[in-house]
Amino acid sequence: MNINRIGFKLGATIIALFVIVLFALGFVIDRVFSNFYHAEMREEVEELAVHFASMANTDEGDMIQTFAEFSNVSIYLTDGTEQETVSLGKTEVSDLSFIRSSDLKRLAAGQSVFIEFESAQNERFFIAAEPVGVEGKAIYVLSSMHNMEQSLNQVRSLLALSGAGALFLALGFTYIVSQLLSRPMLEMEQAARRIAKGELETRLAVRSSDEVGTLAEAINDLAKDLQHYRDTRQEFFANVSHELRTPITYLEGYAKVLSDELYETEEEKQKYLAIIRQESFRLNRLIHDLFELAKMEEGQLNLTLERVDLKEIVESAVEKVRLRAREKGLSILSSLEDDIPPIIADGLRMEQVLLNLLENAVRYTEEGSIQVRLRNGESGCQLTVEDTGVGIPTDELPYIFERFYRVEKSRSRQYGGTGLGLAITRKLVELQGGTIEVFSQVAAGTRVVITFPANRSKGWQTP
Ligand SMILES: Nc1ncnc2c1ncn2[C@@H]1O[C@H](COP(=O)(O)OP(=O)(O)OP(=O)(O)O)[C@@H](O)[C@H]1O
Ligand SMILES: [Mg+2]
Repeated sequence: MNINRIGFKLGATIIALFVIVLFALGFVIDRVFSNFYHAEMREEVEELAVHFASMANTDEGDMIQTFAEFSNVSIYLTDGTEQETVSLGKTEVSDLSFIRSSDLKRLAAGQSVFIEFESAQNERFFIAAEPVGVEGKAIYVLSSMHNMEQSLNQVRSLLALSGAGALFLALGFTYIVSQLLSRPMLEMEQAARRIAKGELETRLAVRSSDEVGTLAEAINDLAKDLQHYRDTRQEFFANVSHELRTPITYLEGYAKVLSDELYETEEEKQKYLAIIRQESFRLNRLIHDLFELAKMEEGQLNLTLERVDLKEIVESAVEKVRLRAREKGLSILSSLEDDIPPIIADGLRMEQVLLNLLENAVRYTEEGSIQVRLRNGESGCQLTVEDTGVGIPTDELPYIFERFYRVEKSRSRQYGGTGLGLAITRKLVELQGGTIEVFSQVAAGTRVVITFPANRSKGWQTP
């Protein structure tokens, strides 16, 4: 058995305490019993002595022997000189050294005497003596302690037996309790090691709601998180390599066409070159976006927080996309409230958020308009970008903030997106203390709402 196990330590402590208590209790019970017997016997012998003394004084003297046999005691009558002693009892004690002159003197003076005596045969007696009459005579009553000692020994062996029984019971009980306590610990240790080895499907059975149970739950949650992390990471790498491979395939293909001079006109050559430039640009952007996301997720993106005027930022972002919108025949309508309090944010990142949303609106809208609204509501500062575009199916809405997620994969080629824009946008909004929500209806349009809580924007006014 490993003595470092919690169960063993706990068990050993309990048993040590138990043994101490058991011994103390045994000692006390033994004392109580022997004192009790002792007092009882003494009282009995003294009473008998008084009784026999009064019998000896009267003419009932002959009855003494019968009574003595009946009472199981020895009786000695002495005339007060140590020599003239008559035994009347049933047991003879060969040496009469218990008759001491000092006691005889006290008896002659009319006092009672009580002594404990051990004979030459090592038998122990309680002895009570009483004066008889006035001529210095005395009667000694001897009662053997043999019976009392036997009873006491019986009590002691019973005590020892029940003590040993209790000890075994405690041992068994402690063993079971310590097993119950340490088994889940051992299971958890093994589970943690399996998880560390990469067996992330490992789960523990939660059998209680105490500390042990919650620890098991925490380990299960940890395994679940790690599993999710591993799965998304694998998916992420698959996506990254796929996204990188696509433009590279184009680059390779068109570069080969050009180097093998497989074009017929100069115009065709320029077209291929334009594709190469476009794909290089796409590749560059993709890598840039990926780095940004990675930095944000590791919390290494440094925001330059300052008081910013949201209205100004919205106006400048709208100006930047206005040309693209006009090319597609879309109009951008903005309604921006004037009393918007300044908020603490990173101006450039805020503009990036807006540009992402506006670019999406322009990109996924074929006709109609794009509306940008900024207002200071009860829940805080609210920024809305709404379009009349293709919309997003309801069942796909929960996923659009995931990296590389695009509604209908075919859209990417058609519109040229990589699916990273909204993932970056949400991270940036959250890093600046805001929330983002999307409402959409297919073929009707999409509305994205960003909110910066009132208490924060208010608090920021007077930092
Ligand atoms: N305003 C919108 N209208 C319709 N669909 C949208 C709109 N905004 C986003 N989506 C859908 O959500 C997907 C994810 O958007 P996200 O901005 O993350 O990626 P992207 O626009 O495809 O690429 P990127 O922004 O990285 O160039 C898009 O592919 C598009 O299908
Ligand atoms: Mg986008």
